[in-house]
Amino acid sequence: MDQMKVLLVGGGGREHAIAWKLRQSPRLGKLYVAPGNAGTAQIAENVPVKATDVEGLLAFALKEGIEFTIVGQDDPLALGIVDAFQAKGLKIFGPTQAAAQIEASKVFSKRLMKESGVPTTLFNVYTDHASALEEVRRHFAAYSGLPTVIKASGLALGKGAYVCHTLAEAEQALDEIMVKKLHGGAGDQVVIEEYAGGQEVSIHAFCDGKSFELFPSAQDHKPALDGDKGPNTGGMGTIAPVPWFNASDAVSEQIVGPILAGLQEKGSPFIGLLYPGLKMPETGPMVLEFNARFGDPETQVYMRLLKTDLLDIFEACVEGRLHEINVEWNPGFAACIVMASGGYPSPDYKKGFPITGIDNAEILPGIIVFHAGTKQADGKLVTSGGRVLGVTGVGATLQEALDHAYHGVECIRFEGMQYRKDIGAKSLV
Ligand code: GLY
Repeated sequence: MDQMKVLLVGGGGREHAIAWKLRQSPRLGKLYVAPGNAGTAQIAENVPVKATDVEGLLAFALKEGIEFTIVGQDDPLALGIVDAFQAKGLKIFGPTQAAAQIEASKVFSKRLMKESGVPTTLFNVYTDHASALEEVRRHFAAYSGLPTVIKASGLALGKGAYVCHTLAEAEQALDEIMVKKLHGGAGDQVVIEEYAGGQEVSIHAFCDGKSFELFPSAQDHKPALDGDKGPNTGGMGTIAPVPWFNASDAVSEQIVGPILAGLQEKGSPFIGLLYPGLKMPETGPMVLEFNARFGDPETQVYMRLLKTDLLDIFEACVEGRLHEINVEWNPGFAACIVMASGGYPSPDYKKGFPITGIDNAEILPGIIVFHAGTKQADGKLVTSGGRVLGVTGVGATLQEALDHAYHGVECIRFEGMQYRKDIGAKSLV
């Protein structure tokens, strides 16, 4: 069997989980991760090239004879890494720059949803502060009890969406995005949209430009604190599948199918991983946003449940023959608890603290610990980011998967560590 030399782009928990799953493929030869983390270094070779350095990654791939590249992060996709690799005849999993606009431009995405009849909230687009201010003042004068949502159109490290419950919050959001330019050019256009109630659900689909394959549903927990309180983070924990979610057919028929057809009509077929973030009001799924890559920490639970060879799936997507693959999932549930640095998501959290106990956690049944913000320093494993580890557990029931994951968490220590104690709790009742 021919083995492939593979490059994975990114350095978070998502990439450690993808690398872990790729390692199980008999077709995987040498695996490089750029830039990777201390977890990927244990199972692959880390390459000191930033995920946003498209030219550097291309030069590396050409020099090393990389046969297949997988892009984990959003920003290289928005920068056109897929187009750059394809122009040199290299195989790469991910959407082109044009198709990746579905995530990189909220304005593009909302307009495409409207054109394609995909259920989403009503919205308007603003480029000047005065008009945006007028809109939020009008909203709170008419509906003072109803939140409004303000989003910077471009990529903003997951921090560009503001759910505003009061006029003062909305004015502050507009000031940060449009006046202080906290998100730079990402805030040149602003989307102001209706607030949708209901729980959030994450959908993932492998796409080959013509057909798609839906994953089981997952649920992330974005607020930092128990009870969905506190500031929004990149995600503090996930479960999959979501036991009460029964809208997969609606998602295929009303969301994923029409949006892929819409992109194809625009001449930008989507090849890669499409991740719609949904709200689930009683009326049925509403799309909050589309992402053009795997979710983090959704990937950590998905990789624990995926049975089929991931490299086979990636290759089939890129070659437009996803229909040939029978994508299978293990029965049962998976849970991921994110262990984060004290102070995260505020940017001034401290790092460099030694981490202990991962080995003890991983000898427990059903536990795999995925690294995110970790590195080796002076022979020690230390914290190097906001989200540090994703402790995953699997089980026949959701409760069992959560129990396993939390037992793993109890083994691990680093100064200032924080984690949510109620991941999955909403779905246990
Ligand atoms: N789960 C949040 C994200 O990946 O954007």
